[in-house]
Amino acid sequence: MSALLSVQHISVTLGARQALKDISLDVGAGEFVGLIGPNGAGKSTLLKTAAGLIQPDGGACWNYGKPISALSAQERARQLSYLPQARPVFWSVTARDIVALGRFAYGAPLVEDSRDEEAIVRALADAGATHLATRSAAELSGGELARVHLARALAGETPLLLADEPIAALDPAHQLGVMKLLQSKTKEGRSVIAALHDLTLAARYCTRLIVLKDGRLLADGTAKEILSPDLLKIAFDVGASIDWTEKGAILQLEPLT
Ligand SMILES: Nc1ncnc2c1ncn2[C@@H]1O[C@H](COP(=O)(O)OP(=O)(O)OP(=O)(O)O)[C@@H](O)[C@H]1O
Ligand SMILES: [Mg+2]
Repeated sequence: MSALLSVQHISVTLGARQALKDISLDVGAGEFVGLIGPNGAGKSTLLKTAAGLIQPDGGACWNYGKPISALSAQERARQLSYLPQARPVFWSVTARDIVALGRFAYGAPLVEDSRDEEAIVRALADAGATHLATRSAAELSGGELARVHLARALAGETPLLLADEPIAALDPAHQLGVMKLLQSKTKEGRSVIAALHDLTLAARYCTRLIVLKDGRLLADGTAKEILSPDLLKIAFDVGASIDWTEKGAILQLEPLT
């Protein structure tokens, strides 16, 4: 059986820079993959390529054996949701209007039926954004807007969610809430690949971590298998000590100089 997402030997050049170099990975149902790596490592580029938004120079991404580049926009929207890292809103639309865009694959927002309505209400609630629904999106705080965009991505109820830094702008309680929510979605059989900079939360909630550096895949495995002071030094140029507890890893990071 082909994988939900199969990334095979992709290379991506952006401007003069090779952003991804021969990356391969398969993601199956129910996985919560944390994509980690320093700024510029290629995390966003990998997510955009898996979402079919960037065409790789070499290699290809597949969805259950079909090239993602061959799927129509609507077919793609039924298979995967993409939460971009940059999410500006300049228009005077309500938060609910943004979330309704997540129903594109089903015909909304032009035509909404009761299933769309239920999905939109559920996604707003899941993202802790119900109270924001009627607010103008342009007036929301960074963290509020981040949760509305997350709700938009959740509203598609797709098998795969590609989330670029879904907790970056959130306060600690909402960071924990979103990580728990994504974990619960994967326990229901959906899959999530999330670019994350919080290594402690990534180690605690993700079933698998993929580490990128300079466009290359440095490590791929469970937190326990791959996180080590050596790896963190190579990946992030930091000194690290790691204590493992029942809930995951307690990391102490130090600058090297
Ligand atoms: N449109 C572009 N043109 C040229 N270079 C680009 C473009 N987009 C990204 N890059 C470069 O590609 C590399 C990978 O960028 P990417 O955004 O994937 O990194 P990232 O791992 O998501 O980093 P961050 O943690 O800062 O979000 C970087 O060196 C970046 O400068
Ligand atoms: Mg990025």
